[in-house]
Order: sequence, then structure tokens, then C-alpha cells
Amino acid sequence: MELVFASSNQGKINELRQIIADLSDSISLLTIGDGVPEIPVKESGADFTENAILKAKAYARVTGKPTVADDSGLEVLALNGAPGVNSNRWYPGSDGDRNRALLDKLTDKSDRMAQFVTAVAYLPDSEAEPQIFIGSVSGKITDEPRGSAGFGYDPIFIPDGYAKTFAELGLAEKNKISHRAKAFKKFADYLANQYEKQ
Ligand code: IMP
Repeated sequence: MELVFASSNQGKINELRQIIADLSDSISLLTIGDGVPEIPVKESGADFTENAILKAKAYARVTGKPTVADDSGLEVLALNGAPGVNSNRWYPGSDGDRNRALLDKLTDKSDRMAQFVTAVAYLPDSEAEPQIFIGSVSGKITDEPRGSAGFGYDPIFIPDGYAKTFAELGLAEKNKISHRAKAFKKFADYLANQYEKQ
């Protein structure tokens, strides 16, 4: 089967490819720019799940193929879950600017608890009920950015059980425990199960 992944982010595409590698005889992944045109989708959902469904629906309608999409972000407890669905746009500028702005907001806060969350939505066809897979990783926000790997908030997030930020741990280590890896793994297990039933 051809499976559309509504993403052009090479990091995410590699991660999903790796996780569904066992199914590579049955599934061929089509991505934006590689068989799938880019469609503008307004991420107007109230949460990660709604946004993932909006993306998956839009791509399933246009391609007519089974489609998967994801939406992720960082929730900081002391900020009542912000920046959440607005993680990539709540503050103008670069990832580094947003990290600095987030640290500024937390200067007088002793509670540094936060979590990354990913929602994955899968639609066998555009009219089907979406299947949702959630992954999360808890941790805390540092006082200063540390490390250079990864992207986004990686330099200011230390996952529970570790002393290093995601940006210091590096991609191989991060991808074993990340919110996205967990959500993709649940999706891969679901797909494998569907194939076993056939
Ligand atoms: P997306 O929905 O996966 O594109 O993520 C939206 C935004 O959340 C990104 O632009 C980042 O700011 C943040 N984000 C999501 N996942 C991660 C991650 O693994 N590390 C750091 N930041 C992330």
C-alpha cells in the first residue's frame, strides 16, 4: 500500500521510515515533495490531535490515499500548558529567540516541569474515522540553552531520568525516547496489527 505522510520535514520522515522499516515490503511512504504536492493547511485546531486530523484530512482528500500526519509541541506546566499548539509561532524570530523568550518567562519560576507531546492521526481514507496515537515525554526546562543537536526547544529540555538536554543527547539517543518516536511506534504497531489480520 502507498501511505502518504503529510510532512516535508526530513528528520521526521527518516524517523517514521525507520520505525516502519519492518513493513517496508507492504508500505511505500510518499511524502511532500516526493510524490505528494504541498497543500496549505491552517493549523486552527484547539489541540495537537485536532491539528493532526486537519492535516491528515486535507492530504487524504487531495491524494485519495491512506494518510498519516502529526502535530507536536511543548507544554510548560508553570505557563498552563503554553506554548502548546503555538510552539512554532508564539514568539517571532528563530528557534533560539523562542528559547530565550521562554527562559525569560520562567526566570522567577521554580517549577520547571514540561512535556513534549505528539499526536499522530491516521486516515485509511478521507471519510474514515481518524485513528489517533499520542506520545509524550516529561522533563524540565533548563536555566540556559545547552547543546547543538536537534531543533526547536531541544537545547532547553532535559528529559526525566537524564542530566543532559535533548540537544546534548543527540538525535540517536533522543529518537529512542522522544514524544514523536513513541507516537510513531504506536502507529507502526497498529499498522502491523492491521496487516496480520489480512
Ligand atoms: P511540529 O508540529 O512537529 O512541526 O512541531 C511544532 C513545533 O513544536 C516545532 O516547530 C518546535 O518548536 C516544537 N517541537 C516539536 N517537536 C520538537 C522536538 O522534538 N524538539 C524541539 N522542539 C520541538
